[in-house]
Amino acid sequence: MLKPGFYNMDCREGMKRFPDKYFNLAIVDPPYFSGPERRGYYGRRISPIGVNRWYKISACWQVPDEEYFNELFRVSRHQIIWGCNYYSYPFGPGRIVWDKCNGNSDFSDCEIAYCSLHDSVRLYRYMWNGMMQGKSITEGHVQQGNKALNEKRIHPTQKPVALYKWLLGKYAKPGDKILDTHVGSASSLIACYDLGFECTGFEIDDHYYNLARKRLAEEQAQVRMKL
Ligand SMILES: C[S@@+](CC[C@H](N)C(=O)[O-])C[C@H]1O[C@@H](n2cnc3c(N)ncnc32)[C@H](O)[C@@H]1O
Repeated sequence: MLKPGFYNMDCREGMKRFPDKYFNLAIVDPPYFSGPERRGYYGRRISPIGVNRWYKISACWQVPDEEYFNELFRVSRHQIIWGCNYYSYPFGPGRIVWDKCNGNSDFSDCEIAYCSLHDSVRLYRYMWNGMMQGKSITEGHVQQGNKALNEKRIHPTQKPVALYKWLLGKYAKPGDKILDTHVGSASSLIACYDLGFECTGFEIDDHYYNLARKRLAEEQAQVRMKL
């Protein structure tokens, strides 16, 4: 068995190294297209991470197949699977909708996840539109006010740490073991670290793996400084 940790490897290989139902909760966000270049990020004047900054084209994004999902359901007791609407896999009825409060942006207004922990549909609102980031509307705010407090965007499909914290607070119990098969920017790992959950993560792309490790290490150093 692999030790819990963050690995630069193909999750389909990584999951094989864990016993059945080892993880209490898998929160995953696999790619549903073969790379950021397919979404028209290249050639735009302003990229989602800022003017004149561009994401590296990834040659190794793997759109998950049935074998991936079967393995995910083998190693985890419960699952939250972002982008479930893009896959032809027979997920159960539970859904989580993240409303990005995007206004008139060209990007999707919402993202949809399958959630094995209920049969209903739950809604989370958190603004995530370039420099416009903010707390949930239900908390009474839609913007941070101070843009310096915004999360840095290092990945083309980065999700906010706040979203992962909300998911963990609502769907995980203290002591749960968490799995993220497609780590990307490390937002999931940061949320797990901050809330005290053991998390195992995989990222296949060397470039993003190194950026994510750096981002996680910076967060861990900051938390240690505050202690
Ligand atoms: C949709 S992004 C995840 C974004 C992440 N949720 C975040 O907040 O930053 C998918 C990531 O999975 C990685 N990936 C693609 N195929 C993979 C595989 N077979 N194993 C591990 N990582 C993979 C890609 O390199 C990409 O960084």
